[in-house]
Amino acid sequence: MNLIKNLEWRYATKKFDSSKKVSSENLELIKKAIQLSASSYGLQLYKILIIESKALRQKLKSASWGQDQITEASHLIVFCNYTDVNDKHIEGFLNMTAKSQGIEVKNLSGYGDFMKSKIKKMTRSDSFHWTSRQTYLALGNLLSECAELKIDSCPMEGFEPEKYNEILGLSKQGLNAAVIATIGYRSDEDHTQNRPKVRKPLNELFEVL
Ligand SMILES: Cc1cc2nc3c(=O)[nH]c(=O)nc-3n(C[C@H](O)[C@H](O)[C@H](O)COP(=O)(O)O)c2cc1C
Repeated sequence: MNLIKNLEWRYATKKFDSSKKVSSENLELIKKAIQLSASSYGLQLYKILIIESKALRQKLKSASWGQDQITEASHLIVFCNYTDVNDKHIEGFLNMTAKSQGIEVKNLSGYGDFMKSKIKKMTRSDSFHWTSRQTYLALGNLLSECAELKIDSCPMEGFEPEKYNEILGLSKQGLNAAVIATIGYRSDEDHTQNRPKVRKPLNELFEVL
């Protein structure tokens, strides 16, 4: 039941108390929750930037529809997907699997070839969207972990990825800003915290076949 209670507690925070900071201990727990996210084949084809710098966030705010959370929150988290998937990503994953599970990498070559064959069939646009989708699972874990820690958060798509890519130098690293989140502590003045949740009724949302 705890998860449900935490999910009822959380809300997309519009106004953060800029004097309150997320501790480094809690930040480590949030990172761990993101690290443990499920991903397709386990490839984790993304990188996550944790932005503390106020100056950098001020620059990014103008590329984020001017939303105040960008500068008022404790931290800005940018989930970046790899724009192009290649054999190196697969080989890196196979080496890590072999090491973690104490097996020889050559014993994983069949699985590696299978993944490579699937990825080769994807267009650039397919793989871009595929890796981008994975970041949303990581975002979901961030939201849940924050709620468990009673840390407020706001998932955000209201930003211009091209500008983020330029400001953060992401394109030259083969990365793209897919989705962002701000984390911190709600301001007492944020009236949205008192609004009842708006959700479709279960009987409309679900159908049992
Ligand atoms: C992918 C995604 C993007 C969102 N983008 C923004 C945003 O840019 N700014 C904002 O204030 N809220 C944003 N939201 C918050 C939603 O509006 C909010 O989650 C929704 O209205 C449900 O309300 P609740 O999260 O408070 O329960 C976003 C939510 C998601 C999941």
